[in-house]
Amino acid sequence: MRELLAAIGDTWAAAGHEDLRDLVTDFAVAEAVKTGSGVPQHLVADYSAALAGMGVNQQLRGVLESLGGSLVWSEGGMTMPQSFRGRYSYVELAGPKGMIASDVVSFGLYLQKSETVYPSHWHEAVEHYLVLSGTADWQMDDAPYVSRRPGEAFVHASNQRHATTTFDEPLLALWFWQGNISDSTYRIAGVDP
Ligand SMILES: [Fe+2]
Repeated sequence: MRELLAAIGDTWAAAGHEDLRDLVTDFAVAEAVKTGSGVPQHLVADYSAALAGMGVNQQLRGVLESLGGSLVWSEGGMTMPQSFRGRYSYVELAGPKGMIASDVVSFGLYLQKSETVYPSHWHEAVEHYLVLSGTADWQMDDAPYVSRRPGEAFVHASNQRHATTTFDEPLLALWFWQGNISDSTYRIAGVDP
């Protein structure tokens, strides 16, 4: 876990976020309270393709490959539209429900299958993303979708609506939540709270 946090911190720093590197590496001495069984079977091919497509950070790719099945991948506890279920998964490395406990920040990895629409959603937490693999279309509020490539970092403001559409490549990204990190504020279009 320490090696993974160092690699993730370095990846944020390389994208201009020394602040997030420092927040991530603060957890390097923490003990994980959960261990997992790896990416779910129905996403194994997507995860492998995403790792193979990681051109920007070979250090992090190597650590992720060596960790194999020990990460806790989950769809989380939120109700999602039927069209989206089974087509994404994420790791909460640190956070209220994370592999490492934190009530202050939450961060981890996000995987989305190819040819998938993650509908517009919003939450109180300020959310940083950094694309590791896969060029996808991203939307904020009602603005036109923007194509974002590996290496790009961007932020969703508190309660700003955002959506992500993948095409022929799966998406793998780093995410980081600050502010009110409770997932009780999470809402997604098409699902009543
Ligand atoms: Fe989000």
